[in-house]
Amino acid sequence: MKHLTTAAGAPVVDNQNTMTAGPRGPALLQDVWFLEKLAHFDREVIPERRMHAKGAGAHGTFTVTHDITPFTRARLFSAVGKQTDVFMRFSTVAGERGAADAERDIRGFSVKFYTEQGNWDLVGNNTPVFFLRDPLKFPDLNHAVKRDPRTGMRSADNNWDFWTLLPEALHQVTIVMSDRGIPRSYRHMHGFGSHTFSFINAASERHWVKFTFRTQQGIENLTDPEAGALIGGDRESHMRDLYDSIERGAFPRWTLYVQLMPEREAATCPYNPFDLTKVWPHADYPLHEVGVLELNRNPDNHFAEVEQASFNPAHVVPGVGFSPDRMLQGRLFSYGDAARYRLGVNHHLIPVNAPRCPVHSYHRDGQMRTDGNMGGATSYEPNSRGEWIEQPDFSEPPLSLEGAADHWNHRVDDDYFSQPRVLFRKMSPAQQQALFENTARSIAGASAPVKARHIDNCSRCDPDYGDGVARAIAQLTELR
Ligand code: HEM
Repeated sequence: MKHLTTAAGAPVVDNQNTMTAGPRGPALLQDVWFLEKLAHFDREVIPERRMHAKGAGAHGTFTVTHDITPFTRARLFSAVGKQTDVFMRFSTVAGERGAADAERDIRGFSVKFYTEQGNWDLVGNNTPVFFLRDPLKFPDLNHAVKRDPRTGMRSADNNWDFWTLLPEALHQVTIVMSDRGIPRSYRHMHGFGSHTFSFINAASERHWVKFTFRTQQGIENLTDPEAGALIGGDRESHMRDLYDSIERGAFPRWTLYVQLMPEREAATCPYNPFDLTKVWPHADYPLHEVGVLELNRNPDNHFAEVEQASFNPAHVVPGVGFSPDRMLQGRLFSYGDAARYRLGVNHHLIPVNAPRCPVHSYHRDGQMRTDGNMGGATSYEPNSRGEWIEQPDFSEPPLSLEGAADHWNHRVDDDYFSQPRVLFRKMSPAQQQALFENTARSIAGASAPVKARHIDNCSRCDPDYGDGVARAIAQLTELR
């Protein structure tokens, strides 16, 4: 028999009956166990993530299968066969913590590699592109897809008003409205780092790189009617699928590939290789296989490991770096800031977030400092005690930049449509029809001018795309 104690470790004598003055009398303030129990309960909720609030996570391993050391000196890629522990979190984006999983939305695909050189967080999505090119618009995107300030309800008009006023969003919108817009589960979708990052090799040469994880389970999707029926019976379908498959030993796997561009080629690339609304076509930059990601252990506690997990694109390791993508640059600020708000300044001490290599920093104190606070170690630098010094050996080669500081208009590149056009023309007639009908259902609640604007954007991409969407909207309107 194990005994119940207070948080201070003292025996709890009665966990059924509040202490009262007589059998029918009021409760007494001296029932400190009752006070402690309610006070803890009152503080159980922490802020949810502003986006990607609903998620599921699992532990696993990444194993290198192919040599990419000519491109990166990151030690996690240093030898074929090398394994690195990972923690992954999948998510939907727009819904809150209690939202149903099988909704039409993009999916988050976050991987934390616990490398010997620190944590590397690749915080991606299941789509290779994004709605925006400029991080200044990110809060607007979220206000448009989340709840209306007056009604507290989701609003198709807000959502589509915003999307259609940003024609660069059409590439991502086409993917979300396609048959891939509702994955059957988190296991049945690809993952993308989406941004352009950089690799630095041992000779200090830079390549631009994009990361793609291809599912080994195969792509499987749900139609709108299938998803609607599923949600009626199970709001946790993605979480359950991931948990159950790991429990029964069917470990989900993804193959990691990279696309590589020599540093100097960025200047002559016909499209902006740092534009998050565009892909690098595989014909120009083929996929190179790197390794296998396997998820093989469920968390012991959802709150401790999944809810308290924090991923940050600023967390890179030597050999992996950033790029001039202004969206990525914006994210470098936002995630650490969100973690400090959501979990506190010492969120890196929470076991799921803690690096699995020695950490020597001069950060001290702060709320929930639970690790001994570096004891008596010197807390300033420079010092004459030989304490922790910077490591210039890991510095990156200089990156040439030019240009005067200004609010440069990213819309000088107004090629919004050529890549979604390629995507649309690759679709089978059945996939195109699904795209038209999914769009019609999603945009049904929007005003006529917003619908007309979307049809116009689609027509500029491909007249058949515009016609198809217009027809599907008209048919749905007749049916209603
Ligand atoms: C979550 C900001 C674009 C993928 C978040 C969070 C913030 C944020 C504040 C919540 C973090 C937390 O509370 O721990 C931004 C900003 C963006 C941006 C400012 C653009 C400027 C993107 C893009 C991707 C992405 C382009 C994918 C390629 C994710 C994922 C999560 C997330 C997967 C959930 C991470 C987790 O599982 O904990 N984002 N985001 N975001 N974002 Fe972004």
